Amino acid sequence: MCGIVGYVGTQQAAPLLLEGLTRLEHRGYDSAGVAVLGGSGLRVAKRAGRVRELADGLPRRFGGKVGIGHTRWATHGPANDTNAHPHLDAASRVAVVHNGIIDNAAALRTELADDGIVLASDTDTEVLAHLIGRSRAETLEQRVAEALGRVEGTYGLAVAHADFPDRLVVARNGSPLIVGVGDREMHVASDLAALVRYTTTVAHLDDGEMATITATGFTTYRLGASGLAATERRAREVDIDPTAYDAGQHDSFMHKELLEQPTRAEAVLRGRLDERFGTGHLGGLNLDARELRAIRRVKILGCGSAYYVGQMGASLIEELARIPADAEAASEFRYRNPIIEPDTLYVAVSQSGETIDTLLAVQEVQRKGGRVIGLVNVVGSAIARQVDGGIYLHAGPEVAVASTKALTNMFLGFAMLALQLGRVRDLSIADGRRLIGGLTRIPEQIGDILATESDLAVVAQRLAAAESLFFVGRVRGFPVAREGAQKFKEISYRHAEAYQTSELKHGPLALISPDVPTVAIVPDDELVERNVAALHEIAARGGPLVVVTHASVDLGHLAGGVGADGVDGAATVRIDVPRNERELDPILLTIPLQLLACHAALELGHDIDKPRNLAKSVTVE
Ligand code: F6R
Repeated sequence: MCGIVGYVGTQQAAPLLLEGLTRLEHRGYDSAGVAVLGGSGLRVAKRAGRVRELADGLPRRFGGKVGIGHTRWATHGPANDTNAHPHLDAASRVAVVHNGIIDNAAALRTELADDGIVLASDTDTEVLAHLIGRSRAETLEQRVAEALGRVEGTYGLAVAHADFPDRLVVARNGSPLIVGVGDREMHVASDLAALVRYTTTVAHLDDGEMATITATGFTTYRLGASGLAATERRAREVDIDPTAYDAGQHDSFMHKELLEQPTRAEAVLRGRLDERFGTGHLGGLNLDARELRAIRRVKILGCGSAYYVGQMGASLIEELARIPADAEAASEFRYRNPIIEPDTLYVAVSQSGETIDTLLAVQEVQRKGGRVIGLVNVVGSAIARQVDGGIYLHAGPEVAVASTKALTNMFLGFAMLALQLGRVRDLSIADGRRLIGGLTRIPEQIGDILATESDLAVVAQRLAAAESLFFVGRVRGFPVAREGAQKFKEISYRHAEAYQTSELKHGPLALISPDVPTVAIVPDDELVERNVAALHEIAARGGPLVVVTHASVDLGHLAGGVGADGVDGAATVRIDVPRNERELDPILLTIPLQLLACHAALELGHDIDKPRNLAKSVTVE
């Protein structure tokens, strides 16, 4: 989604802004722009297309040591040069970059037009530039506050003004903004990725907060009806490896992040398993045993892959704690006037911690008195700060749009939560220890699956040839199939549809043919016979099969091996994953599906880190 960068200091701003924008490219965008304040006033360059094109076309005289930059993801108006940010006021003295949506932009545009202002773009952001430009308040801070007082909606924004050439003013309401403190220079960005190259000393602004940034420091204020009140915000050191944002020798971030899974899985489990009592030890939940015991229901809220892993988590909680649990797409939740019950534990799950649908769902629950905990990866993100407790996922920065390592750690987070809920109920200490044993084996077993990558690449190449695929699974295996289909479609652009294996006969079997392969999730569990019977039904209709299973499962005459002559004929390819405890199998069954998606997309020549039409964090509804 849209990205913001800003700089005030002793160096030329433009190259630093462009570098920062490059670091935000993974979030998804369709146009980019920069504005600098220098001796010759305010200069702006912006265009549809990539940051590289913007950099190549930059005028030679583009000097200035104060500046702002933006990558835009079109919402109001098409992706073209005019709609790209920064936007200017009528006198071209104010430049604004903005993430989020101004809900009352239409009314404000009409008001400005009635006053004779000609709006150059179709955007909601431009109204902000005009409102600030029209203000006659004494300071830039007051002018920005006055303008923000007129708008309804969400924003992260940065403002440069030719009359105040020593500073930027930035503000946040629902869209992240981080100030980075350097040596006689200050940076600002909407994502840590754009800052870590320059500094790891940062301050996250809160919603409703504004900051003045000069070369020597920053000052923060709270925006209120009665004006600006100073706030006390200190920059802190973040524990982040700056190379986390470099793909290194990998040809994509997705591939790098996939391979990091064993070590990241260890990180999320570290110090959170209590072997002695056979339970999880998630201190951040802020819930004692009595409060955990009082929970009668669990509702998990997330979007996309986080929703699917939420379904895996709901199964784990029901199985281990025997409490009713379900997952719901956070994007739908608040629109059906949900019933919030006091003895329900709500769990928000999010990699970025910025997904607006999930954040709004959390707020809906809290508004009605419900309690929400978070499983969140990005430290200090909006959801992490909004929830009443929770745990960080320790997956490290995830740059690729397709979520892999964060998703794995979400599953492990749910497993520990389920253990903890189970152990204050009827889950025995022996079962608790059995599951801890299983969790401890997972990092190595993920490594074993990743080691089969070259075999999986062969299968993926063949799947890539199909226009349309099914992913099927049952009960624990169904969310695995959903996640497998999601990963496959988002980066290969093939139509991949997930179904419960049991539902095939009720409709989709009509589509099975030699051209439509099915990826079937068949763990060696209580449903194995029913699952294998369904495979025969698919094979009998000529449907090619890729079966993700355990070595102990007998596929009868369907059996083949990875690399066997499957997929294009009716023959079956099997992919065996290591066995763990049944309840924990879903995550191991998921790993080969990530590799299948990755290699199918590579085979098709797609840029797998930047899938078309998608963004890494979806910060607008
Ligand atoms: C899929 C994917 C998305 C995200 C979804 C939620 O690979 O990455 O479906 O899972 O947009 O994002 P977060 O977890 O940041 O809330």
